[in-house]
Amino acid sequence: MSDPRHIAIIMDGNGRWAKARGLPRVAGHKAGVDTLRAIVRAAGDKGLEFLTLFAFSSENWTRPTSEVTELMGLLKLFIRRDLSKLHSQNVRVRIIGSREDLASDICSLLEEAETRTAANTGLTLVIAFNYGSRDELARGMRKIAEDVAAGRLKPEAITAEMIASKLDTDWIPDPDLIIRTSGEMRLSNFLLWQAAYSEFLFAPEYWPDFKPAHFYAAIDEYHKRVRRFGGLTTEELQDFSGDSDVVPLRHTAG
Ligand code: IPE
Ligand code: IPE
Ligand code: MG
Repeated sequence: MSDPRHIAIIMDGNGRWAKARGLPRVAGHKAGVDTLRAIVRAAGDKGLEFLTLFAFSSENWTRPTSEVTELMGLLKLFIRRDLSKLHSQNVRVRIIGSREDLASDICSLLEEAETRTAANTGLTLVIAFNYGSRDELARGMRKIAEDVAAGRLKPEAITAEMIASKLDTDWIPDPDLIIRTSGEMRLSNFLLWQAAYSEFLFAPEYWPDFKPAHFYAAIDEYHKRVRRFGGLTTEELQDFSGDSDVVPLRHTAG
């Protein structure tokens, strides 16, 4: 199995990590930022091309205002404090998610992070912020519908590739591996479309306890997986090699 190009992580369990220590939830989020730094560095050291981190979901706005405010504060602090370091590590920062209704100071910081690091050629760090797959798909569908309504696009020209091209991730390969920490086994509205053939790894550690060693172990586990994408592996196909009658069935559209 070749190396993963793109790993996406659902950084979960900050609140429970704090609770287990009798600390307020925000202490877990702060510890989570330290883990984030360590994993970004580990990914860069591994030569990974794309690392996507789920930082704040479109549903996380339903949390108490105090927690939302603290999370926004931590994001701002992270960009202000870490941008120069990320830049010096040759990391290219990109943000996915909706920018609508975000506070203007946050929007400016996100833009600054992207612009300043745009020419970097190392790891691409994709931060999913105010991101939800259903919202992303709805925004993409709206663009397609507008093109159809304006007569620029025929409904029959809508393909899976075209839908993918209308998503925030149109420039990123689908994730090879999706890791979720804290033992929860769900996607929580993360990369639903893009995860069609991703490998999954659910780590029991809360995010603040997730160390580079766990990250490297996840990559080792990925290497043991067999990906088929609905077809057969080269090894499995060998069983058919002497069998000239066997023609692979092909899905035909329509
Ligand atoms: C992940 O940790 C961080 C965000 C969702 C922003 P949580 O805050 O979800 O922590 P738990 O899941 O409640 O422990
Ligand atoms: C997913 O975690 C969102 C992020 C990690 C940013 P949640 O903690 O919001 O997910 P649920 O609510 O447990 O499904
Ligand atoms: Mg959670």
